[in-house]
Amino acid sequence: NNRRRRIYEGKGKILYEGPEPGTLVQFFKDDATTNNKTKHAVIDGKGVINNRISEFIFTHLNRIGIPTHFIRRLNMREQLIREVEMIPLEIVVRNVAAGDMATRLGIEEGLVLPRSIIEFYFKSDALDDPMVSEEHITAFGWASPQELDDVMALAIRINDFLTGLFLGVGIQLVDFKIECGRLYEGDMMRIILADEISPDSCRLWDIETREKLDKDRFRQDLGGLLDAYQEVARRLGIISENE
Ligand code: C5P
Repeated sequence: NNRRRRIYEGKGKILYEGPEPGTLVQFFKDDATTNNKTKHAVIDGKGVINNRISEFIFTHLNRIGIPTHFIRRLNMREQLIREVEMIPLEIVVRNVAAGDMATRLGIEEGLVLPRSIIEFYFKSDALDDPMVSEEHITAFGWASPQELDDVMALAIRINDFLTGLFLGVGIQLVDFKIECGRLYEGDMMRIILADEISPDSCRLWDIETREKLDKDRFRQDLGGLLDAYQEVARRLGIISENE
């Protein structure tokens, strides 16, 4: 696709120059990688389904007054978004012990946490996204204390909304990752949700069967990733029963 200028290419998405100033086009690729890039695969159709799931979630968030970069979906793999100045953090919210936290602290996967926990990771491919504290973030100027407060408030509101959304369709929201950016409007600046929210960036377990309906199917070589993502989309009413 060389009609437009490519602004950025990540592991799962490409950002192109948008049709108007202050906009970008976000393209969802089919590529799947693990955090340390030891594993890579192309899963046909993953980008299409993630584009739809992320559209659905961001549309709902916009509607309930949680600001996001999402403007509208353009086609099967692309959405129009607002250009923001990215904050170089991955913000993880955890409700149930799993993944990196379960390993790091020796906690059994599946333990319901006494309260939701927010963690920060510095976005750096070279360093494999090391975990950092609020002190690192403010000391190195990745975000100001006020911005970090705004980021955490956003993360908690998103967790509340998503927990209820998924619970309603028989899915437990174990954890998820978000990324935020600064949106400048005149002389105003606010922190908004950017990137995507999809089964690539969430842990989603079926309440009844405990089946994993997320990217752990790829990380743990369980197979059936696309089927699981489609099941999430079906339950949310994004695709029809026979798709
Ligand atoms: O690996 P970890 O347990 O820290 O992941 C926590 C949550 O953040 C998971 O839902 C995972 O899918 C998501 N995540 C992500 N991108 C990363 C690291 C984690 O979307 N680079």
